[in-house]
Amino acid sequence: MSEHKKNDDKDFETTGHSWDGIEEYNKPLPKWWLMIFYASIVWGIGYSIAYPAWPGVRTATAGLLGWSTRGNVEQAIVDHAAGLAPINDQLASVDLDAIAGDPELNTYAQNAGGAVFRTWCAQCHGSGAAGAVGYPNLLDDDWLWGGTMEDIHFTVSHGIRNEQDPDARYSEMPAFGRDDLLSQEEIEQVTNFVMTLSGETPPSPDLVAAGAEVFDINCASCHTEDGTGDRWQGAPNLTDAIWLYGGDYASIHETVHNARFGVMPPMGGAELSEAEIRAVTTYVHGLGGGEVAE
Ligand code: HEC
Ligand code: HEC
Repeated sequence: MSEHKKNDDKDFETTGHSWDGIEEYNKPLPKWWLMIFYASIVWGIGYSIAYPAWPGVRTATAGLLGWSTRGNVEQAIVDHAAGLAPINDQLASVDLDAIAGDPELNTYAQNAGGAVFRTWCAQCHGSGAAGAVGYPNLLDDDWLWGGTMEDIHFTVSHGIRNEQDPDARYSEMPAFGRDDLLSQEEIEQVTNFVMTLSGETPPSPDLVAAGAEVFDINCASCHTEDGTGDRWQGAPNLTDAIWLYGGDYASIHETVHNARFGVMPPMGGAELSEAEIRAVTTYVHGLGGGEVAE
């Protein structure tokens, strides 16, 4: 067959193969290259045993080390939470009104609270917290139930008129028309009167005087005699031209006829941690309308 032989002329070793006088040089791959080549095969086999590698029908082989990208993320989340544990513990335990006085805690609560708000509150109150019909604007200083840290904290924890939390804020305006508590005429009268409370000109000014009487008897117990509302009952101020359901004749008529029943779910318990509730409370309080407890 063949025999390695030196090519004297050219100083090259040939394999000894020769075809029609054409000889084959013997130039094996360099040792270092081969070592790396074999080493990478060994390493590749080791790697595919240690780490997830071979695809199966639904998932890949798990690998002996139990490593996974998902596991990495979970660990990162755990580490992150552990890193925040001290400040969350502090947030959950300090006096509510002391948060604002601690710059570090306050900044943390504002930022974390903004994130909670965008996830848990924005779908109802709007991403900018400006609200919508039936969902109060949280940017202004007009509060249905109260705007101190404590008020907001309670509202967020227990919610409003929901069935899940027995401590939820609760009140119910009667459906004066639907339940025949007032005649259609009286509803028209009081609707005209309510419009005047916020300085609007009603469609039938001649009904206002009669409406004032209807209001005194049927509405003042909740909305107070001068119509400025009662936070204990979440009864809105009717004099400020800020409307939850609308201040035009048709909207007010609808409110008096059928009543309204705004529901907010409780966020305490399973939904949000105490630290998250306090963070979002701080955030909402800081939006502009926050009140200071007396
Ligand atoms: C499913 C809708 C919904 C979600 C989600 C929701 N709310 Fe509300 N929220 C309402 C409604 C409706 C009211 C008004 C209830 C009423 O008519 O009294 C309200 C009222 C409030 C009030 C009382 C305002 C006042 O004037 O006293 C605060 C504060 C508040 N929400 C904060 C939050 C925060 C913070 C979150 C998120 C953690 C949140 N809400 C999530 C529907 C929601
Ligand atoms: C038992 C207490 C109660 C009585 C009595 C009552 N209301 Fe109300 N009223 C409420 C509450 C609570 C709300 C808020 C409902 C909600 O947020 O879902 C409300 C809401 C309203 C609103 C909507 C305000 C807005 O911002 O859109 C109007 C208007 C109103 N009431 C008028 C009246 C009139 C007029 C009467 C008398 C005929 C009356 N209410 C009697 C408790 C009462």
